[in-house]
Amino acid sequence: MKRNNIVLIGFMGAGKTTIGRWISQNADMTYLDTDEYIENMQGRTIQEIFTQKDEAYFRDLETETLQKLSGSLNFCVLSAGGGMPVREENRILMKQIGVVVYLRTSEEELVRRLDGDEKRPMLKGAVLKDRIHELMLAREQAYLDGADVVIDTTGKEADSIYNEIEDFINKNF
Ligand code: S3P
Repeated sequence: MKRNNIVLIGFMGAGKTTIGRWISQNADMTYLDTDEYIENMQGRTIQEIFTQKDEAYFRDLETETLQKLSGSLNFCVLSAGGGMPVREENRILMKQIGVVVYLRTSEEELVRRLDGDEKRPMLKGAVLKDRIHELMLAREQAYLDGADVVIDTTGKEADSIYNEIEDFINKNF
């Protein structure tokens, strides 16, 4: 039921969790986070998966998660891990699941929000600003390709972001 579900994509720190939780509380939808789903399924944290296994193993778990979820969600806001849209297969699955919203955030804002983050393995071992720039260069096209609609989040509160999403769905689906 594509129209009934919303899939939030975007870079780490784009606000997928905050916006997703806000929507679920205010629009009577359930909230699901692919990272939490994977952690529960694996019985270990994302950081542990990256250190005990590797990134490729985690990426396979992400695809497996979308395969399991597709077809079973209704009135759900799904927050997708920041790297999820990189695989074409994932982009197709997410578009089948729901209306895919790319929460776009400037690199400057991402640097501010992610400064001091200890939980995200993809940000380790490099200068934060450079790492964000490098990953954004590699990913932005995938975010754009994967999205039904792009919403710039800079300076906006959750309610106005949700209103934009709702308007888009009402006009297009
Ligand atoms: C990742 C983003 C994280 C999580 C993992 C990898 C990425 O999710 O899936 O650490 O590659 O961008 P958030 O976008 O929710 O932080």
